[in-house]
Amino acid sequence: MAATIIDGKQLSAKKRSELAIEVEQIKAKGLVPKLVVILVGDNPASLSYIRGKQKASEEIGVGFKLEHFPETLTEEELLAIIDDYNNNNEYHGILVQLPLPKHINETAVVEKISPLKDVDGFHPINIGRMMTGQDTFLPCTPAGIVEMIKSVGVEIAGKNVVVVGRSNIVGKPVGQLLLNEHATVTYCHSKTNNLSSYTKEADILVAAVGRANFIKGQDIKPGAVVIDVGVNRLDTGKLCGDVVFEEAKEVASYVTPVPGGVGPMTITMLAHNTVQSAKNFLE
Ligand code: GUN
Repeated sequence: MAATIIDGKQLSAKKRSELAIEVEQIKAKGLVPKLVVILVGDNPASLSYIRGKQKASEEIGVGFKLEHFPETLTEEELLAIIDDYNNNNEYHGILVQLPLPKHINETAVVEKISPLKDVDGFHPINIGRMMTGQDTFLPCTPAGIVEMIKSVGVEIAGKNVVVVGRSNIVGKPVGQLLLNEHATVTYCHSKTNNLSSYTKEADILVAAVGRANFIKGQDIKPGAVVIDVGVNRLDTGKLCGDVVFEEAKEVASYVTPVPGGVGPMTITMLAHNTVQSAKNFLE
């Protein structure tokens, strides 16, 4: 039986219209929520992601500013710019687009952003709060994935979750968020022996490895929920996920497409965090 597709675009549109109402309410109280995105260099993928962030912000009425600097910006200069925005209360969200040029220490940069404005949810203080199940800014892709699973009414508690990939941005935090929802979580990665013996046991499979068509239909448990985080560009120019979509569709109960799945939800969760941050500044 063909799986139901979890439509990230449709779910995003619904959430964005709810956020637009919240933004109106915040503005009525005299505050305009604003996000600043800082980009160093001209990475084409980063520029494309940023366009999506700008579009979502504008759609819901959040102010958006792009601070675009040349590749030659020093770490010291970048840290000073972040500090200025930390102290500028016209801005409620600060996002430094990753990856940064090699001469800049990403950890130092992420740790410089005020945890109160860290709408990416990357600051160690916010990661710590997430791990202990406190209310905080959650990293956008993992938070979007949880929303997508919940949107189709799938119970997470008690399920076997297998996360393939252990990045700080997606793999590790998505496992933690699903653990917070009472799932039993297994992390797999490039050094895992006999990977498919794990994936075949997953009620919920999250593929976040960054390798085109890595997970095949035969690696998936019949009836599983399959979340594909991969954004891989083939030589033909076509975008594809980490999962062979056409095969997954025949085995899974629910599957997310690429494009139009996790990507739009990631951006919507950034808008959500920015609105939440602005609300915190009202209090
Ligand atoms: N680069 C790729 N994904 C992300 C993200 O979610 N946030 C930031 N800041 N940079 C990224």
